Amino acid sequence: MEPKGENDIAICLGTACYVRGAEKIAEAFSKELGIGVGETTADGKFSITGLRCIGACGLAPVITIGEKTYGRLTPDMVKDIVAEYK
Ligand code: FES
Repeated sequence: MEPKGENDIAICLGTACYVRGAEKIAEAFSKELGIGVGETTADGKFSITGLRCIGACGLAPVITIGEKTYGRLTPDMVKDIVAEYK
């Protein structure tokens, strides 16, 4: 287990989110940050974690970063989300 980053990007991989493209969202974050799910960036700023359903299926696909929830994501939103935390 690696320690989590300062900003942990928690991607819901539950059924509803999965069906609506959570995998593509995870790939987009991986590409943007250069790390895989379960890993942390070398500078300790970001990590990516996979979650089970967080009960916000109506907003699928969903991620959380700290207290904030982002729903109805598309891969092209990922860059801007990461930029908010840089
Ligand atoms: S499956 Fe993602 S919030 Fe329920």
